[in-house]
Amino acid sequence: MSKLLTQLHELATQLTISPEQIGAIAVKFQQAMKNGLLGSPSSLKMLPSYVSKPSRKEIGTFLALDFGGTNVRVLLTELLGEGKYVVHARAGKPLKQKEGQYNHISKQATADHLFDFIAKQIAPLVKPDQIYPLGHTFSFPTDQRGLNTGTLIHWTKEIETTGVEGKDITTLLRSALDRQNLPNVIPKAIINDTVGTLLASAYEDPFTDIGSICGTGHNTAYIEPCAPDTKMPMIINLESGNFDQLPFTAYDALLDQQSEKPGEQRLEKMVSGHYIGELVRIIACSLFDDGLLAGSTSTRKILTTPYILHGAHISLLLEDDSEKKEQIAHFLESKLSIADSTLEDRQTLIKIASLVSIRSARLVAATYIGILTHIDPDCSQNHTIAIDGSLYEKAPNYAKTIQMTLDEELGSKKKVTSTLTKDGSGIGAAIATAIAIHTES
Ligand code: GLC
Repeated sequence: MSKLLTQLHELATQLTISPEQIGAIAVKFQQAMKNGLLGSPSSLKMLPSYVSKPSRKEIGTFLALDFGGTNVRVLLTELLGEGKYVVHARAGKPLKQKEGQYNHISKQATADHLFDFIAKQIAPLVKPDQIYPLGHTFSFPTDQRGLNTGTLIHWTKEIETTGVEGKDITTLLRSALDRQNLPNVIPKAIINDTVGTLLASAYEDPFTDIGSICGTGHNTAYIEPCAPDTKMPMIINLESGNFDQLPFTAYDALLDQQSEKPGEQRLEKMVSGHYIGELVRIIACSLFDDGLLAGSTSTRKILTTPYILHGAHISLLLEDDSEKKEQIAHFLESKLSIADSTLEDRQTLIKIASLVSIRSARLVAATYIGILTHIDPDCSQNHTIAIDGSLYEKAPNYAKTIQMTLDEELGSKKKVTSTLTKDGSGIGAAIATAIAIHTES
């Protein structure tokens, strides 16, 4: 066997998650959930959301604000009941401009900059003589004491804006809305994007009890039948991206050490779109160091630029089914200035991307099995797992691998279905607002 093949074989051994490992991870995950619920030490924060399943009768027109770390999006949404809704207007912008004109998520940005920018995106959808109840999907770990208050515990996804950690997000938003002269926009609810995805899917499909994001970040929420606070059913945001009882490789350790917050978000660093491109780069770099990837000094330079590969590039690597892998050759040349890649280089990159992507889907599925075992040990009920995010939606075979892993572990006769729920953060925020208003009256 050639040295490259031996290395790739070794890589496959390290990155393949066996059925036994799936079972073991699920058990550890379930235990971490229990510890988190009891307030014992756990890598799972188990954050209460103060909202439960929708009645599916929620109706009305609401503003939905979606802040996930890449863009700010605002929707004016009318809920019509039983899964139906109309989006009347949309607005939004990226939080950072590629040309570098502005960046609201860097260390230099302050809370006021960021929230003024957010409020300015809301303004075009608002008429001065009308009242607009607003639901806010804020996709970071927040400590909630009610449906409309939430303190940011800490940033994730490498966001660094100062003066937001430890602050109540609704208060920051309220002040910015006042500064932008929008007193008629009334925040009513703040939710995580996983909670939004769960709500949006459950609005249509009552079997939904898990909501998850497989995109730039990764996280899951589920309906806890007996929440610690209220002893009633409540959606809990696991912040599962922070789960850390996992089979780490030396590549995972390196990525973690070089990240903004070493030791944190260990699962997210193995599975999410923000990190898997970087993992592929780190692995390719190590093959290059061993003289196993051809190419010139230009290859070396590109390979040593952190985060040059994104989740979308992984999809691109996995999509090219041409014999010569021309699309990949074109990508390497046009985007990374590598003009001299060989077919073997391109096939090697595909192999690495495939191993990393399958590992991601299988690890995520293992955590779902942990949750399902917690809520329904015999798995006797129907369950829908609602999932949103670019990886789940776009990465070739990603969604299929999740479902196959669930079937492999639970048996395909069990009625556990994973399904794409688009725009869950937007629609979910509107549903949470309707629930908040209903609870007030
Ligand atoms: C990160 C955030 C989490 C969010 C996820 C998906 O993991 O900490 O709150 O749900 O990204 O956006």
